[in-house]
Amino acid sequence: MKDKFGREIDYLRVSVTDNCNLRCVYCMKEKENNFLKNDEKLTDDEIYKIVKESAKLGIKKIRITGGEPLVRAGIVNLIGRINNIPGIEEIYLTTNGILLADKLEELKLNGLKGVNISLDSLKEERFSKLTRLGKLENVLVAIDKAIELGIKVKLNTVIVNDVNKDEIIDFVNLTKEKPIDIRFIELMPIGIAINYKGVTNEEVLKVIEDNYTDYEKVVRSKSGGPATYIKLKGAKGKVGFISALSNCFCEDCNRIRLTPEGFLKQCLHFDYGVDLKSKLRKGISDENLREIIQENIYDKPEKHLFLEKSEHKELKFMNQIGG
Ligand code: GTP
Ligand code: 5AD
Ligand code: SF4
Repeated sequence: MKDKFGREIDYLRVSVTDNCNLRCVYCMKEKENNFLKNDEKLTDDEIYKIVKESAKLGIKKIRITGGEPLVRAGIVNLIGRINNIPGIEEIYLTTNGILLADKLEELKLNGLKGVNISLDSLKEERFSKLTRLGKLENVLVAIDKAIELGIKVKLNTVIVNDVNKDEIIDFVNLTKEKPIDIRFIELMPIGIAINYKGVTNEEVLKVIEDNYTDYEKVVRSKSGGPATYIKLKGAKGKVGFISALSNCFCEDCNRIRLTPEGFLKQCLHFDYGVDLKSKLRKGISDENLREIIQENIYDKPEKHLFLEKSEHKELKFMNQIGG
């Protein structure tokens, strides 16, 4: 369905947990222990119901996010159930990749089309320092296995000043060797990330241009998500830029978000939305649920105001929202 600015909203990001098996420095505190309790999170049946009603309103694409979605018990089964909802055409997963390798076959059988894997360093020690708990090898194995299984892989890389700027070309080079896309994401000032300085994608592109002149711009489709892409000559994959700050893509936004505690969020940046969990637990009918979702989609704000002072700014951390 269309929102009041005429944007076609057909994509729901479902965050299934705020918990994570990593503690990336720009996302969470080292000693984070304030995670939602199980009864505070939507149950599988509640998520299923919300997606089913959203599908009737024209939601076609689902992305499962977190925290780290693979730490939620029963996640593969939930993905399979959602994939079978009439109207849902595609289901994807955004993950840190640590637990992914062993689950890929099952995920594929349950309908998963692709994975976006967060990876900020290709250097073992640095990866462990950045994520505080992670082992790089686990992610690399998962990437290769996903490619083997024919599951589409996109890597998400946040470049942070004085941390991983020297790896831009190593990441770009991966697209020469492997059929994967790599996307550079500008660090958004959310939660603990306000203490870090991101690198603009303009700077990232400049580093690439200093090393490569032979690349083509890939035309961006309106429904193609926030990334713009280039492709090195002869490369197997593309290099993308998600430039939330320097190049606002809100005009083409096609998505809404569901948080683990059942809040339907209209935009990443604002706290606007509706608490669907309490309504579900009070026994709301499917039809009423659908009407409320419909009103919320219609009322999506026009654009984020990350770089301005604004009321209703989201104060939650990225792991609580789902990116
Ligand atoms: P595709 O479905 O493959 O296009 O995925 P995606 O890039 O939308 O999703 P992914 O989960 O890989 O997110 C990558 C980055 O884009 C994360 O840092 C998200 O926070 C950011 N992102 C996704 N959607 C939005 C959005 O609506 N607004 C902003 N500002 N950033 C977003
Ligand atoms: N700004 C931009 N991206 C972020 N991510 C986590 N926190 C932020 C932030 N403040 C990224 C992760 C992951 C994706 C889902 O969101 O690195 O790649
Ligand atoms: Fe976990 Fe993703 Fe946050 Fe890293 S960025 S701590 S992987 S939720």
